[in-house]
Amino acid sequence: MTGSALVTGSMLVTATDTGVGKTVLSASLLAAIAAAGKPVRAHKPVVTGTEEPDTGWPKDHELLAQVARMDPHEVTRVCFGPAVSPHLAAELAGVQLDFDDLLAAAHAALATATEREQVCVIEGVGGLLTPLTANHTVCDLAAALHLPVLVAARPGLGTINHTLLTLSCARAAGLTVCAVVLTPWPDQPSTMERSNLTTIARMGSVEVAPLPFVASPQSAPLARAGDTLPWRRWLAAGT
Ligand SMILES: Nc1ncnc2c1ncn2[C@@H]1O[C@H](COP(=O)(O)OP(=O)(O)O)[C@@H](O)[C@H]1O
Ligand SMILES: [Mg+2]
Repeated sequence: MTGSALVTGSMLVTATDTGVGKTVLSASLLAAIAAAGKPVRAHKPVVTGTEEPDTGWPKDHELLAQVARMDPHEVTRVCFGPAVSPHLAAELAGVQLDFDDLLAAAHAALATATEREQVCVIEGVGGLLTPLTANHTVCDLAAALHLPVLVAARPGLGTINHTLLTLSCARAAGLTVCAVVLTPWPDQPSTMERSNLTTIARMGSVEVAPLPFVASPQSAPLARAGDTLPWRRWLAAGT
């Protein structure tokens, strides 16, 4: 296994739950950074749900590959059809996922990014405590990689609890939380949504940034949304 030094310019995008907006956030960041002329790289440890009906949005590794100008198979080596947690997807497929292999693949992506002076965005799977294998979670992967995490969260009802729990878990594992991103942030946020943003920032002692709604999965609208985020500062801060 390779060493795990902090890799400047890279981050892991996690979320309070599955289906919250990790892919949209990761793709928006990658598209914005690429549009600013900085080379980018995407990595996803495991993709599940490739057999799900078409939603109008590409599968995670396809969208990440599109914005990072990579081949989808370079983004992930591990895909499963059913939309279930990786540990179960592997079990249903009759294979075993090895945490050290997933870690080595993530390290390889980060090493290539460092070599090529690319910013690497790793999209997690599900939420922070989603099992990757029978005994290891996404949180274990982020900790082993020493990567700062960006937390995608919903803007609406329930998000304070989910987000504070995620922050608490991340910090207990020694992770650096870069920021929370509320997504999709409406054009006209309600009183509750605005209050959720400030309450998470205050109670979680964390920066909270809103990500606007992205109408279609093309690089240009994704880059416009990503550019509303202070990604330059996040990267300059050693993330
Ligand atoms: N900023 C956003 N703009 C448009 N759609 C969003 C945004 N954030 C989340 N969504 C929607 O939420 C759903 C889940 O987003 P996705 O990024 O696939 O989540 P995850 O990767 O966490 O599973 C998608 O249907 C996506 O279109
Ligand atoms: Mg995703």
